[in-house]
Amino acid sequence: MTDTHSDWSLITRLAHWGLALTISAQLLSGLFVADPHTRLYFYFHEYDGLAASFFILVAWLWAYANQEIGLLFPWNAAGMAAVKADIRALAHKRTLPPGGQTTGLASFGHGLGLLAVTVMAMSGVWIFFIIPGGHGAQAASTDFRAFMEVSAIHTFTSYLVWVYWVGHIGFAIAHQLEGTPIFRNIFWRPAKDAGR
Ligand code: HEM
Ligand code: HEM
Repeated sequence: MTDTHSDWSLITRLAHWGLALTISAQLLSGLFVADPHTRLYFYFHEYDGLAASFFILVAWLWAYANQEIGLLFPWNAAGMAAVKADIRALAHKRTLPPGGQTTGLASFGHGLGLLAVTVMAMSGVWIFFIIPGGHGAQAASTDFRAFMEVSAIHTFTSYLVWVYWVGHIGFAIAHQLEGTPIFRNIFWRPAKDAGR
């Protein structure tokens, strides 16, 4: 079992529920937004995207208030040394990086994931304002060039979010199979509260 220090706060857990549900739905509905037979997925994607943006904002504000920014972005010498040590242990000894609130590869991965979905939210909301054809916030935008450029950023970054999503869930399952109750800790209640 990997040593995992997790006592996620209630707000972290609620925000994570929001991120996990809305962003997973964004990835899936993104596959069908261009379906010519229905506008359903398209409109769902726009409004679920606004909900996802809300949870992303909450996650940033809470990470700041809870002094977790350094955990998500450990780009100082000590932090990067911890990330490298985790990568070496994973590559050479097949040891999973410790999860929870530990500085290292896992929390850095969470930070990069949060950055990627933030780019999605910013480009998505931008598209929402300028998409031509009366399907966004403005009824009569004709700014096709800006739309194409921002849409390209949105599409490219969605591939990174897919990579994150698969890797994030894959590592979580691997931890769980090793015996660390990682799903219970983030979705239900942290180890510290269990049994109370
Ligand atoms: C795609 C949207 C998601 C994002 C952006 C995301 C982001 C995060 C972040 C930032 C953390 C660290 C806690 C925090 O600081 O808030 C975390 C932890 C965690 N997430 Fe997600 N998550 C997503 C989806 C999911 C899904 C769909 C699952 C499972 C089905 C999942 C399982 C977990 C688990 C088990 C942890 C605890 C990891 C640990 O203890 O190190 N996440 N996630
Ligand atoms: C937050 C996470 C988000 C994810 C993971 C995501 C994912 C995707 C994906 C995969 C596509 C399909 C791209 C393609 O087929 O070329 C797409 C398209 C689209 N998204 Fe998002 N999206 C997100 C947020 C948003 C937000 C916040 C909005 C607006 C409120 C939005 C509006 C759109 C629109 C209008 C399209 C169709 C136009 C285009 O392809 O650029 N998205 N999104």
